[in-house]
Amino acid sequence: MKHIVVLVSGNGSNLQAIIDACKSKKINGTLSAVFSNKADAFGLERARAAGIPAHALTASQFADRAAFDRELMQEIDAYAPDLVVLAGYMRILSPQFVAHYAGRLINIHPSLLPKYPGLYTHRQVLDNGDEEHGTSVHFVTDELDGGPVILQAKIPVFVGDDEDEITARVQHQEHAIYPLVISWFIDGRLEMRNNAAWLDGKELPPQGHASEE
Ligand code: GAR
Repeated sequence: MKHIVVLVSGNGSNLQAIIDACKSKKINGTLSAVFSNKADAFGLERARAAGIPAHALTASQFADRAAFDRELMQEIDAYAPDLVVLAGYMRILSPQFVAHYAGRLINIHPSLLPKYPGLYTHRQVLDNGDEEHGTSVHFVTDELDGGPVILQAKIPVFVGDDEDEITARVQHQEHAIYPLVISWFIDGRLEMRNNAAWLDGKELPPQGHASEE
């Protein structure tokens, strides 16, 4: 059985979708542990409720980012994960962390990358009057929100939508596509090669699987 470790900073609704998918065997792996940089993250509660070891590390107790990530890596590696999943983990990773988990580290970002890397994506979509928005699952590389895209889901933006409405619409899609991508990886169908995502031995286009572009 392959092992998955999930990192969260907040609510953990994506974590919940992953927990549920493991339980229903849509993901054929074991969720071994959940880590957070926030001791009060609700995601940790979700993990405990599911009987999954939940750990928090507090940044102020470490000299710098590298020291925090060194400890985090050591604690994560105790679970020998095949895949490390960032699910609303809102802390910048050190280059050492990214290198250590290269090819087995994925993230979900609430925009149609390469549009809107960074924060406040929903706000920018509304401010710019975009009619389309969405979310992207990608391999993590040193470039912030810039690693190869694996799968995107699009949502419409309607006149009069507010930030809460489009956030909910995006998250509904996230809860479907993140477990799916994780299942591909766990089943050995997905890998990162030459800074590109490959599914079933085929290189995926820049916007991921089944992209229209
Ligand atoms: C998700 O919408 C995810 O796309 C976003 O945080 C939310 C976490 O929600 N991630 C980022 O913004 C990463 N840059 P959750 O805690 O309910 O899963």
